[in-house]
Amino acid sequence: MHIAALKSPDSRDHRSVIHPDTVKKITELSGVTVSFESGIGNGINVSDQTFIELGLNAISRDECLSQANFIITPSPLTIDESNKIQSGSTVLGMLNPFHAVDELKALNQSKINVVSMEFIPRITRAQKMDVLSSQANLAGYAAVLEAAQHLSSALPMMMTAAGTLKPARVFVIGVGVAGLQAIATAKRLGARVEAFDTRDVVEEQVKSLGAKFVKIDLGDTGQTDQGYAKELTPEQIAKQKDLQSQVCERSDIVITTAQIFGRPAPKIIDESTIKKMKPGSVILDMAVETGGNVEGSIVDEVVSINGVKVVGVSYLASRVSSHASFALSNNIINWVADFYNEETAQIDFDFEDEVIQSSVLAYEGKIMNERFA
Ligand code: NAI
Repeated sequence: MHIAALKSPDSRDHRSVIHPDTVKKITELSGVTVSFESGIGNGINVSDQTFIELGLNAISRDECLSQANFIITPSPLTIDESNKIQSGSTVLGMLNPFHAVDELKALNQSKINVVSMEFIPRITRAQKMDVLSSQANLAGYAAVLEAAQHLSSALPMMMTAAGTLKPARVFVIGVGVAGLQAIATAKRLGARVEAFDTRDVVEEQVKSLGAKFVKIDLGDTGQTDQGYAKELTPEQIAKQKDLQSQVCERSDIVITTAQIFGRPAPKIIDESTIKKMKPGSVILDMAVETGGNVEGSIVDEVVSINGVKVVGVSYLASRVSSHASFALSNNIINWVADFYNEETAQIDFDFEDEVIQSSVLAYEGKIMNERFA
């Protein structure tokens, strides 16, 4: 099997799907050749030469597409690119399955198997492949550092000869993987942290990190069997916004991470809440790339609304690109290593397996996941 690793075509994304500390696990598999798009390590300070010394081949993007039969990628391919891939090959990666639908269908039409790492099921065995969690965790960390840079105060309390400096108040909305890491990071930096999520099961986790859980009774909310939040009704969203705005008012930093899997992010902070906040306070909208939690937030811009800085940053995990690449690469390589068969030198697409069932969207020209039917 010839694996080729592609670079992200977006210059804002510095991550790589291969990392020197992880590639050994696939280069050592019998019957596997690994190539990569030249320059793949530029964003993580790893030269082509380093990968070549580890036994990989540096080739162009077009050569990756036309020569390999197993392509790994951090982003969807264009329709044009899918025409360059041999039929019967497999494309695996972060394929943005809810947005790049036409691109994924084009791959299927060319009889290319499609594996979306976003659809790794949330079961214990597959945690080592869960790209959404590995990247959200680092994004949560980067979000706090980014927000802190826009604040004109320090985060910890300091007792100084010049007087006592009060700790910053941080409010994290949405306590999934990113939110938990944001809470932990803000606590480590010495802030007073409060948090809210519609899934009240997270209250214990918030408390265990030393933060305060804000209770807002929205009635029936719940979560899916995969642990994702269910979409709220417009009435529930209105109630949430209302009670939440009191916490925003007293916060120096608000970090929003609210997501609904496969749906646009819920709008949970509107201009009336922003106008109640102190000038100089910061809102970092971690959902800005999926529609935004905050009215007025724009990708890669800092928008000032009544003196409040509304920050939207793309590819937050890429701010810590080395660690993000290490984790992303490990997730992908774990999938390959689990399903590669050394006797046939091919992937075993065993549709009895829950991970295959969920992550393989198309196989041999057939759509395997009803969301794409
Ligand atoms: P996510 O990225 O889909 O959403 C982020 C957070 O936003 C979630 O906690 C969600 O409840 C919250 N949210 C949605 N609407 C909201 C609203 N209107 N207001 C406030 N918060 C709102 O979620 P993520 O981070 O992918 O994980 C969700 C949960 O899944 C985790 O807490 C964890 O328990 C579980 N999980 C399980 C894994 C496993 O392998 N068993 C792996 C990763 C996560």
